[in-house]
Amino acid sequence: MKTGVGHGFGKLILCGEHAVVYGHPALAVAVNQGATVRLRAVEGPTHVVSPSIDDPRLLEAVISIVGESGWAVTIESDLPIGKGMGSSAAIAVALVRAFAHSQGQSISLDDVYAKAYAAEAAFHGTPSGLDHAVASRGGMLWFERGPPTVMRPAPVPPFPVVVIDSGSAGNTKDMVNGVLSRRPAVDPILAAIGDLVPKVHAALLDPASLGPLLLENHGLLKDLGVSTPVLDQLVDLAMAHGAHGAKMAGAGGGGVVLAVTPSPEGLVEAANQAGFASFIAHAAPIQEPA
Ligand code: PMV
Repeated sequence: MKTGVGHGFGKLILCGEHAVVYGHPALAVAVNQGATVRLRAVEGPTHVVSPSIDDPRLLEAVISIVGESGWAVTIESDLPIGKGMGSSAAIAVALVRAFAHSQGQSISLDDVYAKAYAAEAAFHGTPSGLDHAVASRGGMLWFERGPPTVMRPAPVPPFPVVVIDSGSAGNTKDMVNGVLSRRPAVDPILAAIGDLVPKVHAALLDPASLGPLLLENHGLLKDLGVSTPVLDQLVDLAMAHGAHGAKMAGAGGGGVVLAVTPSPEGLVEAANQAGFASFIAHAAPIQEPA
């Protein structure tokens, strides 16, 4: 019986969300949380065995990759859904890899990216491509939307990042459309975010220099109108517990805050005590090209 298995990484955007949609650079890191897809050949229509997600876009994405018939699909993910950690891109990448595996094909990183992007469009409309670039490549990535699309490995911070979950999910498509509707008034904010990216790149190995840049990025995202009072509160909580810096990560309207801190365990405990789920994320390794 034909089977296939594949994995995609979750991600955290260190700098550049939203601005990346308009051609500014962004930096994002793959994390050790992610999605694994298992395929099993069956008679009849392709269907998702588990989880039983009542989201027609998921089946649409699955079918766009494996076809309308012939597969039972199992998806495992330890990423919070809709929280800015790229769960749908991780699933799309895992599906592409699982299908190639089931066909006995080795697939290049460029092909994984292109095929996952097409599937990801079912979730996000016109994503920048950042999420599935990181979901497929691992490590830290400097990304610029093309053409030509730029994807360059960047230094992976040797320290972990604390993730704090606001408890509510945002809708990426709505958040991206919201920013679009506020242009051109918000263009200077998008440009200021873009200007931060090279500075963040230069600070990737030094948490004390990185922290203030993350905080500055959060302030710009707040000005852009994509943060929420709870996300702002979580940034304040991280700073009050000695973090070097913190910011919301992803499209916003909900989702997670990331923090760089000298005492990750202490911050996770403080966030948990304040009633917010929190965990320590480590960078996932860079994938070797196939
Ligand atoms: O879908 P999220 O929350 O992981 O964030 C996507 C990042 C955006 O810049 C807001 C959109 C995009 O397509 O790059």
